[in-house]
Amino acid sequence: MATAEPPEITPLPPVAGVALPWDEVVPDPIAALGAARAAHGDTFVVDGAHDRVLFLFSPAGVRSFYGLAEEEASKGVADWRMLRRKLPAELFSGRRTLPHELFGRHDVAAHLDHLAQALDDTEAELGDEADVDVFAFTRRLAHRMGLASWAGPASARGARFEALVAALDALDASDAFVRPDLMAQVAADDQATERAALAAATALLSETLAEHDAAGPAAAPEGDLFGRIVERWDGEDPDVRRTGIAHDVVLVHLGSMSNLFAALGWTVVDLVLRPDVLAAALDDPRLLERCALESTRIAQRSIMLRHVLAPVDVDTGPDHGRVAVAPGATVATLLPLTNTTAAPGLDRWDPDRWRGRRLGPHDGLPAPELVTAFGHGSHTCPAQPFSLAVITRTVARLATAYALTPGFTGASPLPAQVGGVARAAAPCPLHLGRRDP
Ligand code: HEM
Repeated sequence: MATAEPPEITPLPPVAGVALPWDEVVPDPIAALGAARAAHGDTFVVDGAHDRVLFLFSPAGVRSFYGLAEEEASKGVADWRMLRRKLPAELFSGRRTLPHELFGRHDVAAHLDHLAQALDDTEAELGDEADVDVFAFTRRLAHRMGLASWAGPASARGARFEALVAALDALDASDAFVRPDLMAQVAADDQATERAALAAATALLSETLAEHDAAGPAAAPEGDLFGRIVERWDGEDPDVRRTGIAHDVVLVHLGSMSNLFAALGWTVVDLVLRPDVLAAALDDPRLLERCALESTRIAQRSIMLRHVLAPVDVDTGPDHGRVAVAPGATVATLLPLTNTTAAPGLDRWDPDRWRGRRLGPHDGLPAPELVTAFGHGSHTCPAQPFSLAVITRTVARLATAYALTPGFTGASPLPAQVGGVARAAAPCPLHLGRRDP
């Protein structure tokens, strides 16, 4: 670390001589951390320029990781430390809406109505024949559905939608973990591109706000999420209100774009390469959901991080026992190093390993926490039911309306990425041809 004294970890496990990808270019950080694990075992420390990270991979270590309390070892602070590399500081201050708040039962029903509308618009755009890249296609759909849900339907149509997509893609928070190699340049430019994109998104969302104000609250559908975000800024000075509402919407939207479109993309990729399973899944919604879970599990690239705020005592497993970790350190585990290797056979795509939304009993799996799609413990993804509904409804709708012909034989993850669900290393071309009615 750059500071003279890194936070104490006692007794200190082996320190791996590997760089973190935000400090210097590491072409394949997951392979580098996998090599560190092979050399040092399931518990090791990495000292970065600004972070001391304790990595945990043993069954006891990963179980302890998910048991850490937010007040002592914070996911929120760790995420903020990661995302601020890409996002301007002003986007984090004074937020009145957080992504955790979007998934009440009524909200999910409204989001799924917006999905149905987004699918109608998408079908109209595709026509009877189209060629798309799978991940560009799912990303556009996720922008459309998300913006209609929390930025008002007027933000998800026409020229405003196109301009918002351009601004939000330039601002994309996920770059902090999808392209860690670019973050040094973002810092060197003092986030100039991101600030310009945030200003553009704020101006565009202000147009929707002006229309919302002109129509009056009675015009908004009951329970409308954009209307609720707007209400939270009632009574503020017009500029503070305009910016506050836009920044609430932007932060929520960027959070929603971390994983969902990518998980949908991998589900499409895996199923169009297995037409028999796709045909069976169209007749069996529970099988389709298991396919979504399985594709997400295999595509997981998440680095799970907790920033230590108060001294914690972590059980790392038999090799190093209990370890005291001082505030300022970060505790981590990395899903791609456990999800497909923690037991024999986990490297295969097999939807039938899932029992509902839980992994079924697995020979040789030392702890259930070693495998996940949506997390374990208190931070388990609050958007899991919603995300699975989006994936299954989208695949069902597309595959019912169109014959899907892949122009690829396989796909692999972007090697520089460390965090979130994988982005693809190369385009995955897909031909859609409308089925006879
Ligand atoms: C297929 C799509 C998704 C996957 C695979 C996924 C995965 C995950 C995982 C693994 C975690 C736990 C992280 C940890 O313990 O450090 C998590 C947490 C979270 N996810 Fe998702 N997620 C998805 C979609 C979404 C969407 C669409 C949103 C909405 C904006 C969202 C919002 C959140 C939030 C707010 C948390 C933190 C919960 C907490 O700290 O209590 N997720 N997600």
